Amino acid sequence: MNAIDILVAEHGLIRQFLDNLTTALGKMERGEKIPKTFFEHSVLFSRELVDKHHHFKEELQMFTLLAQKHGGQFDTAIEGLRNQHENGRNHVAEIDYAKEGYEAGQESATTTLPEHLDCYISMLRQHINREDHRLYPMAREAYSAGEMEGLLVELQRADEKAGEGFFETNRDRVLKMGALLNG
Ligand SMILES: [Fe+2]
Ligand SMILES: [Fe+2]
Repeated sequence: MNAIDILVAEHGLIRQFLDNLTTALGKMERGEKIPKTFFEHSVLFSRELVDKHHHFKEELQMFTLLAQKHGGQFDTAIEGLRNQHENGRNHVAEIDYAKEGYEAGQESATTTLPEHLDCYISMLRQHINREDHRLYPMAREAYSAGEMEGLLVELQRADEKAGEGFFETNRDRVLKMGALLNG
């Protein structure tokens, strides 16, 4: 497995998480109530795995190396992706803020929570597709074997730093989210 394959595999888990969010949104649109615990797991998964871990790896290691490669040729694409990371954080902050009010049946939170959920899902799906089909293939082309190897070491270091059980905890969160929707 090379460095890019690791990031693609993380996208797989993030897609499963997004599938749960899509199911939850569909239920909300049909007037079903989603338990607050579902949103607690969602916010934790998004902050810990999507943002602090996956986006951090991309921004600090992969984007930086790619930006140095072709004298700014990729700068606009990278800037757009960074902005989407930031956008995602903002939507998740709003979801986190609205979840108590939603649980209590407050009018504004009942409106804003699905709105942010909808924006977050479509933005992140589009973002991941752009990376999988545009940016990552460009990186595979642009990096030398040595650079790819160096990137792999950096990504593995980030995995070690995340600590033992980090992926299991987050995989478990996605499973718990699914169970809450089927319960
Ligand atoms: Fe990204
Ligand atoms: Fe990504």
